Amino acid sequence: MKHEKYALLVEQIRSLIDGETDSVAVMANVCAAIHETMGFFWTGFYRVVGHELLLGPFQGPVACMHIGYGRGVCGTAWKQQQTIVVPDVEQFPGHIACSSLSRSEIVVPVFSKSGEVMAVLDIDSKELATFDDTDRHYLEQICALLG
Ligand code: SME
Repeated sequence: MKHEKYALLVEQIRSLIDGETDSVAVMANVCAAIHETMGFFWTGFYRVVGHELLLGPFQGPVACMHIGYGRGVCGTAWKQQQTIVVPDVEQFPGHIACSSLSRSEIVVPVFSKSGEVMAVLDIDSKELATFDDTDRHYLEQICALLG
């Protein structure tokens, strides 16, 4: 079940990144762990670099490299500083389609210690309505480990 998988994943990630300080190395292994365990279509991070989101470590097909503040689901999650669950990407105004295969999506902000959004975790699915409150709960827990 999804709940049990996530509970184990959180513990795996906790020990995987224990003592690690390089955020890119941590994001690389965290997205690999999520992707392999949960079998998503695309799992990755965009980092806040200057005034945009820049593609960071990810697993899956090639993706767009630059996303503006308030643009797409990722830029909106950055602006609103909160998780966004999109059951059907075609219903999200301004959604950025990196792959036409992506049908639903969740984006979770990663906050720095000082409380600013330093990155977002973006996960895409080839099915509609893949993500719910269970995903939100555990993925927010994982992102809280990265701050
Ligand atoms: N769909 C995202 C763009 C990133 S790709 O899904 C990897 C968005 O609308 O922000």
